[in-house]
Amino acid sequence: MSQIFHRSTNTISRVSIYAAVFFAAGMTWALMALDRSPYNTRQGVVLKQPVPFSHEHHVRGLGIDCRYCHTSVENAAFAGIPPTATCMNCHKLIWSDSPMLEPVRDSFRTNTPLRWTRVHDLADFVYFNHSIHVAKGVGCVSCHGQVDRMPLMRQAERLQMEWCVNCHRHPGDYVRPRSEVFNMDWQPVDQAALGAALVKEYKIRSPRDLTSCSTCHR
Ligand code: HEC
Ligand code: HEC
Ligand code: HEC
Ligand code: HEC
Ligand code: HEC
Repeated sequence: MSQIFHRSTNTISRVSIYAAVFFAAGMTWALMALDRSPYNTRQGVVLKQPVPFSHEHHVRGLGIDCRYCHTSVENAAFAGIPPTATCMNCHKLIWSDSPMLEPVRDSFRTNTPLRWTRVHDLADFVYFNHSIHVAKGVGCVSCHGQVDRMPLMRQAERLQMEWCVNCHRHPGDYVRPRSEVFNMDWQPVDQAALGAALVKEYKIRSPRDLTSCSTCHR
């Protein structure tokens, strides 16, 4: 018995080894694609809300400043979601019969907060803070996109680690004058020169500090 296996099994095993390699590569690719997909990151996905609140209407249309509703964004970790009373400042009078606004009136009458669904939600093991970003000249638009063009809120960026770290490595590519942080339309004339100057002026910490694990995982 010179051969234990028939000749053809060689071909079969060779083919199946190739197949296994391709399969493994394919699976890795699929997992990476899944990791970055909206299904995982929620990027661009519109979630169900109790009221179809439009930033486009209220910010672009009516010109209301972010801070009128997100009152703690400049001095706290959380930006905050406005209480029903903030809506009622206007909607007691405007569109006060609209069926669309019934959940808002009901919340006000019964003194129970509206239950907004969170759109952005980092894992608990990540530390994030709005106030430091506002103080150092990072615009809302850099992380949240053109909110003033969103009839319904969605997450503009992936918010994965590589995204955060990319800016922490090159903050000069993104920072703007503090006065323009809330401006959705501001465009730099020469970002390279401006960024370099602002990094100095605002004493932005070194990329080494900003990419150290303990900055975001503490
Ligand atoms: C009139 C009030 C109002 C104004 C003005 C306003 N927002 Fe909002 N914002 C809300 C409400 C209410 C929600 C929650 C409902 C939703 O997600 O659509 C929200 C949600 C958000 C979210 C998502 C929060 C989450 O769940 O992750 C972001 C980001 C945001 N706003 C950014 C901004 C920015 C940037 C501005 C200024 C350009 C702004 N908002 C102006 C009321 C407002
Ligand atoms: C500064 C005044 C003001 C505040 C504060 C305000 N709204 Fe409005 N809202 C308006 C006006 C004015 C309109 C009508 C816009 C139009 O038809 O041009 C409107 C329209 C709406 C509509 C109708 C749909 C649409 O966008 O056209 C909804 C829903 C709504 N607002 C929800 C809310 C909620 C929820 C809040 C609180 C988070 C809120 N608004 C806060 C002024 C305000
Ligand atoms: C450096 C990126 C970055 C900038 C700049 C930024 N945000 Fe956020 N924002 C985030 C992240 C990340 C979250 C989710 C935080 C979490 O899940 O803990 C978030 C969440 C929010 C929320 C939901 C409530 C909360 O605090 O979790 C609102 C509202 C919001 N941002 C508004 C704003 C406004 C207004 C500005 C401009 C002053 C702004 N953001 C600037 C990254 C940013
Ligand atoms: C577009 C640029 C940009 C993006 C995107 C960004 N950051 Fe930052 N981040 C900055 C700048 C600028 C500073 C200020 C550095 C300093 O204090 O000198 C900062 C500071 C911080 C700090 C330091 C706070 C402190 O008190 O030490 C933390 C934590 C942080 N960022 C977390 C995050 C996380 C988490 C993300 C992603 C979800 C993120 N950042 C995305 C630009 C960015
Ligand atoms: C600028 C902020 C920032 C820095 C610096 C940072 N991380 Fe992260 N890290 C994040 C964010 C954001 C996530 C994703 C959380 C999520 O998906 O909700 C994350 C996720 C992770 C995860 C979970 C697996 C994954 O990729 O989702 C590990 C492990 C991790 N980081 C380790 C580290 C280590 C080790 C370092 C230092 C070399 C580091 N991180 C530096 C922001 C940061």
